[in-house]
Amino acid sequence: MSRKVLFVSSSLRKGSASERIAREAEKGVIANCDDVEFVTLKDKDIRFCRGCLTCQDTGKCVIDDDARAIAEKIREADVLVFSTPIYYCGISGQLKTLLDRCNPLYGSDYRFREVFLVTTSEDDSPDAASGAIGSVKNWVSCFPEARVAGAFSGAGVGTEDPEDGKWADLMNDAFLFGKEI
Ligand SMILES: Cc1cc2nc3c(=O)[nH]c(=O)nc-3n(C[C@H](O)[C@H](O)[C@H](O)COP(=O)(O)O)c2cc1C
Repeated sequence: MSRKVLFVSSSLRKGSASERIAREAEKGVIANCDDVEFVTLKDKDIRFCRGCLTCQDTGKCVIDDDARAIAEKIREADVLVFSTPIYYCGISGQLKTLLDRCNPLYGSDYRFREVFLVTTSEDDSPDAASGAIGSVKNWVSCFPEARVAGAFSGAGVGTEDPEDGKWADLMNDAFLFGKEI
């Protein structure tokens, strides 16, 4: 049976590096899977969780914005791939807000089993994404049927394009990362 793979790109930046890498990973996924969807948070209306916990009784968020539909897509996918720029050593605020807004999924019959993360950061050290991976692991730990299955760190990628060779290598690695998903 075909697996549904959902990408959620959280950078709002025009020409986003993390989105470009996620798009390349998507091409790798498409090589082996025909049920792939790519969602970007650009131009989406996603408001903060108010913490009312109504969703734990009703399974539905009281806020009527774009997070509702995205949370449903997350519930129904087999594999999730989140992408984020590294902000202050962690995930972007917009991804954190979306993960909070997925609280209606907590304790529900969610389908996802594997979660991947794509990051980019100015910092080119090997542990540049460790805070972000930790945040996503913490979220996934609340969904016991799922696990963080892999991460791709585009380390040393700022808002300026890296020199050609490095970018080509990153794209190639991202494609291969996607093929393994
Ligand atoms: C608010 C903010 C905080 C940032 N914090 C970090 C950081 O802690 N470490 C880092 O290496 N880069 C940091 N950066 C740089 C971005 O992670 C980097 O430019 C990234 O590749 C941008 O990805 P995007 O083009 O997909 O938005 C920060 C950028 C912004 C705007």
